[in-house]
Amino acid sequence: MHNAAFEALKMNWAYLAFQVAPQDLRTALQGARDMGIVGINLTVPHKILALDCIDEIDAEASKLGAVNTIAMERGKIRGFNTDGYGFLKAIKEEFNLSIRGKRILVLGAGGAGRGIAVKCALDGAARVVVANRTLTKIVPIAQEIRNTKTEFLSIALIPDEIRRVIPEVDLVVNATSVGLKDGDSLGLGADLFSPRLRVYDTIYRPAETELLQIAGGAGAQVANGLGMLLHQGAKAFEIWTKRKAPLAVMRRALRTAVYGDKS
Ligand code: ATR
Repeated sequence: MHNAAFEALKMNWAYLAFQVAPQDLRTALQGARDMGIVGINLTVPHKILALDCIDEIDAEASKLGAVNTIAMERGKIRGFNTDGYGFLKAIKEEFNLSIRGKRILVLGAGGAGRGIAVKCALDGAARVVVANRTLTKIVPIAQEIRNTKTEFLSIALIPDEIRRVIPEVDLVVNATSVGLKDGDSLGLGADLFSPRLRVYDTIYRPAETELLQIAGGAGAQVANGLGMLLHQGAKAFEIWTKRKAPLAVMRRALRTAVYGDKS
């Protein structure tokens, strides 16, 4: 999507993929800075490791606990997080829903879960519930959300616990990695979902995870993570280039790359 955007704006820039071992992240970032590379996106596991390898961190990235976008500015390696922004934009676009005053259930407490849960609290959610298989991983999220006005609850990611909280939830977000592989299951049955719920899965490949299939079958409004991927990318593009991202071009390129959709 970035290369399509550069082409559309006639910019002589290129977006390339590099494989970097975790222990080499610091030298890779310094090398990139010294070679005049303008910006970088990071993915797992670098999003969290980067917190210790950069010169300056944006306040929101620090709260979300992850850096997915690096910009080299005045010789400094600066870290940003555009995933939270991407999530809010996608929720607005898919469900015409703003997070302010809403009750959100986030499944997962890894990097993605933390970012989404904290972003919802920063954006004025009334209540955030985080469900995770490993309860101790929720502790740093609870600590961060305690600094906001949002009510917070942590629960185990099991059907009985979900059943207890779901009547008081407007939006369910899957931020676990469950659904990426064929046959993956969170073990949540159709009885948990209803037409008044919105269910967002951060996974976009496959386009329909088991969770979306079950929730959609029960009448809930559902959407996958492609919108979040698009909007985090558009925001990163604007940080690097200081130009408005050509969203339609990026969306088309992304759909083609991910689903082979030429429409
Ligand atoms: P990311 O940065 O993409 O969030 P991560 O930090 O590895 O990746 O987090 C993966 C998330 O998926 C975690 O919440 C993990 O739960 P644990 O903290 O208990 O490990 C969750 N997850 C992965 N496999 C799971 C499974 N089979 N059942 C339930 N949760 C699972």
